[in-house]
Amino acid sequence: MGSLKGKVATPKGVDGEVEWQMELFPECKAPSSKGMFITFEGGEGTGKSTQLKLLSEYLLSLKINNIQTKEPGGTEVGQELRRLLVTGDKDKFDAVAEALLYYADRRVHLTTKVWPTLNNGIWVLSDRFADSTVAYQYYGYDKRVDKQLLDELYKIAVGDFKPDLTIVLDLDPKVGLERSFKKAMGMETKETRHESRGLKFHTNLRKGYLEMAKQEPERFVVLDANKSIERLHIDIVQVVKERFKL
Ligand code: TMP
Repeated sequence: MGSLKGKVATPKGVDGEVEWQMELFPECKAPSSKGMFITFEGGEGTGKSTQLKLLSEYLLSLKINNIQTKEPGGTEVGQELRRLLVTGDKDKFDAVAEALLYYADRRVHLTTKVWPTLNNGIWVLSDRFADSTVAYQYYGYDKRVDKQLLDELYKIAVGDFKPDLTIVLDLDPKVGLERSFKKAMGMETKETRHESRGLKFHTNLRKGYLEMAKQEPERFVVLDANKSIERLHIDIVQVVKERFKL
């Protein structure tokens, strides 16, 4: 039976301690994981969604049942949060407000989709997860956000759960941003809020991903995304086969 302790500011401004009884929300528990959780990470225009789709097809060919999902926007509630987060003026939220909204999306995504699916033995492939928050809201903003805040949010919303494998698609942000802006030209709703932050932001977050991967080599694999779609898919299949002994 899981419970979390946390400090809250009461309306009178006095700090108090509360205990969230997770057992009140049994459906919100992280699974003991029968299915595998694979996340794709990287900057803009690195080809995550294309590669995720190809991996899903490959796994299905091995009769490994799986779903494709994404953050933000993997659920109905998430779709509304996604619209707020990825469209419009880049300065409409600061990094803390952004992180809170991304975590709201993540919590709904986990409790209503990711965990129940894994509990049923079905693999989940997600286009982005919590590493995106560290990359964008921490490294992207030149570490001006308190990293501890992001770690606390992770503990509250996600607990001890983490991906079984995280594939970072690494690409020069100049190339990625160009691809991304080109793609957005054909879209009715322009999802370019983060793209418009400029090269420094995107160079920072690329470095952030590489740093995170170094810190947790047992979870992360970094692949060169400057390859053809087919070649990169072969690399990903190799990693997945090795990692899960397929
Ligand atoms: P994408 O679906 O094209 O990757 O768009 C999602 C955008 O949201 C992308 O610019 C990265 C950004 N993002 C964050 O800034 N923080 C997060 O935690 C997540 C999940 C995404």
